[in-house]
Amino acid sequence: MTKEEAKARIEQLTKLINHHNYNYYMLSKPEISDYDFDMLLVELIKLEKDYPAFIDINSPSKRVGGDITKEFKQIKHRYPMLSLGNTYSEAELIEFDNRIKKLIDTDYEYICELKYDGIAIGLTYINGVLQSAVTRGDGTHGDDVTNNVRTIKSIPLQLLGTSFPNEFEIRGEIVMPHKSFEKLNEERIEIGEMPFANPRNAASGSLKMQDSTEVAKRNLDYYLYYMLGESLPFESHYENLTKVKEWGFKVPEYIEKCKNIEDVFKFIKKWDKQRDKLSFDIDGIVIKVNLYRQQEELGFTSKSPRWAIAYKFKAERVITVLKSISYQVGRTGAITPVANLEPVLLAGTTVKRATLHNADQVEKLDIRIGDAVFVEKGGEIIPKIIGVDYGKRTLFSTPVTYIDKCPECGTKLTRNKGEANHYCPNENGCPPQIKGKIEHFISRKAMNIDSLGEGKVEVIFDKGLLNNIADLYDLSYDMLYDLEKTFISDEGKTRIMKFKEKTVNNILAGIANSINTPFERVLYSIGIRFVGETVAKKLAYHYKNIDAIINSTYDELIEVEEIGEKIAESINSFFKEPNNINIIDRLKAKGIQFAMTEDAFTPKSDTLKGKSFVISGSFSSPKRRKEIEQLIEDNGGKNASAVSSKTSFVVAGENMGPEKLKKANDLGIPIINDEDFMNMLR
Ligand code: IVH
Repeated sequence: MTKEEAKARIEQLTKLINHHNYNYYMLSKPEISDYDFDMLLVELIKLEKDYPAFIDINSPSKRVGGDITKEFKQIKHRYPMLSLGNTYSEAELIEFDNRIKKLIDTDYEYICELKYDGIAIGLTYINGVLQSAVTRGDGTHGDDVTNNVRTIKSIPLQLLGTSFPNEFEIRGEIVMPHKSFEKLNEERIEIGEMPFANPRNAASGSLKMQDSTEVAKRNLDYYLYYMLGESLPFESHYENLTKVKEWGFKVPEYIEKCKNIEDVFKFIKKWDKQRDKLSFDIDGIVIKVNLYRQQEELGFTSKSPRWAIAYKFKAERVITVLKSISYQVGRTGAITPVANLEPVLLAGTTVKRATLHNADQVEKLDIRIGDAVFVEKGGEIIPKIIGVDYGKRTLFSTPVTYIDKCPECGTKLTRNKGEANHYCPNENGCPPQIKGKIEHFISRKAMNIDSLGEGKVEVIFDKGLLNNIADLYDLSYDMLYDLEKTFISDEGKTRIMKFKEKTVNNILAGIANSINTPFERVLYSIGIRFVGETVAKKLAYHYKNIDAIINSTYDELIEVEEIGEKIAESINSFFKEPNNINIIDRLKAKGIQFAMTEDAFTPKSDTLKGKSFVISGSFSSPKRRKEIEQLIEDNGGKNASAVSSKTSFVVAGENMGPEKLKKANDLGIPIINDEDFMNMLR
């Protein structure tokens, strides 16, 4: 086959496979057998392997995965991803309708949709090609999960026809259908992994997987609900949403036009009754004004549109009896009281436990053992006690005496003024706190040892093989092989997690790989109280290695940008503890990075490349001056002390030296303040 022939066949196969994908997933009308389809795909994958130059970024072969995302890039949303105002009450919906009536004087209609319970995603198409898929994140920036989203069969990679705008965004929700969820959990249990708590968590976990081949196996689905762009084809939400069917999108069949609020109520009632029959989870109904002209008239508040509202289905509530209270110790030592209940059926599951939050809540509820209590399950997995039926209280109910000693290690609890929680202060000797530190150490933003996630640390910890983070690096194949633990789920089902060859090898490989984690993240991982990611970074760049931090005094520490008194104190006391120094020495011996590498000093951008700066005068604080100096270096610029013809800018604070000022003026060098400088970087 010549190169030209290969190119032509790849294009032909691409078209053919896209066509059959559409028939299968969108129209549910396959024209060829699964086998024939697979053969086309196999042929394409083979040709792409032999002729990689002709691989299209949106080739249908991407549906089966193959791309690895090491780190999810942050992407700025072109249009902020706002949320919706929500309500549980019909009266508030009438108020919503009255507000709309007042604000727009022409007729209007609503579009009612389901509120899909999944993960929000924004898909950008340029010239009909899927360009990016970004999660909501903080509303302004989200994670770039494009590689993973390409594997979702109901999302078109290349649009059909030609009538789409050059550039537009379509937003919707990625969900995991019940069937896929059940299958996934069964498989996880079989191989000894912890099952996901609900489809939303499973969808979210799947989207953040690094290997898109794994994502492809998760059978995620997509429901669209919002279109954004400069030249959308129609004047109304409904028309645009249905139009996109022509371009290859699967348009949800659960959209209805409602002439008035009464019709909206009918839609709500219908779906509240029927929602159990859907193949995916919803948590309410979304009501939107249809015409864009009217949406614009109504506008947005800072958080959400005034032209839409979500009606959330009421959390189911039941009454049962409080049998006892037990106390859980969290990773920070915080104590949470947990109610043990007479088992009761709630929203499809049997509930035996519910959270009581803290001592204040126990006091406020005036709850007694033997009381009849109201239990509710909202969107969250853990049900909560929301009240007591005092009318049912009997003479046999017993008041609650809140504990004063840690239930795990017996240490006397402390409670700081103004804080709701009690704490166990035995940081290094209390089992759940030790386990918590290890869990923090392995977490994604820390050492990122994901092969130890989802309950595996617990299994190893319970066998007494882990007493601190350094012990992780002493684990061996023989120590881990065949370890097992029995978990009892909330539904009373017994699940056994057992480490077989593959799991053990994965765990050990994950631990071994982690020694390459850069110093700044290691510093975050060791769990110094109040040292989050940003502070760890500042410390690492400032001190360059751990010994310099260990030896720094309180006075030196507070001189560092971002380090205040509370953090400086915490750093000092952490390194005063011989146990912590011992752990660091052991980690050092295993090759963990406790110093910055050369690479880390290369500029973070070259925005200021070739530019030379002179900083003069005084700033709001000495830290500010140092920060500017650092930013100049980090972005490829040079710091100089004297003004010369080579100086590009003078960054001036208050009372700039008169000689420097004169020289800069004589040479015509621009004088900017620190804000101008910051803007330069932006
Ligand atoms: S419209 C500007 N429609 O609910 C308004 N959102 O609580 C854009 N959601 O962030 C959102 N189903 O993730 C809209 N039919 C639907 C929805 C929906 C689910 C999610 C979405 C949003 C959240 C707000």
